[in-house]
Amino acid sequence: MQFACKLVEIPNWGKKVVTVGGQQVLLVNVKGALYACENECPHQGSPLNGGIVKDGPILSCPRHGYRFNLQSGACSDNPEYMLKTYAVQVVGDDVMVDVE
Ligand code: FES
Repeated sequence: MQFACKLVEIPNWGKKVVTVGGQQVLLVNVKGALYACENECPHQGSPLNGGIVKDGPILSCPRHGYRFNLQSGACSDNPEYMLKTYAVQVVGDDVMVDVE
């Protein structure tokens, strides 16, 4: 696990892009639960930090609207595509991510 940012930097329903271990990681807060995934859409590479977060937890890509489950990475619109997700943990005030 590596330090990603402070917990207060990701408000409820908010997102934040961080670089951990040389990789861009998107952190998403859905009703107080944190999720971490790659910031590049597996479909055509659109940056996902411009996407829409919905309960589920779901992240919709801003380009073609494919919806990804932030927990499993599964795409409900096209099962061919899979979002890479990372384990995330809160330790005190710090958000830690496992990019291995
Ligand atoms: S680039 Fe994300 S759905 Fe097409």
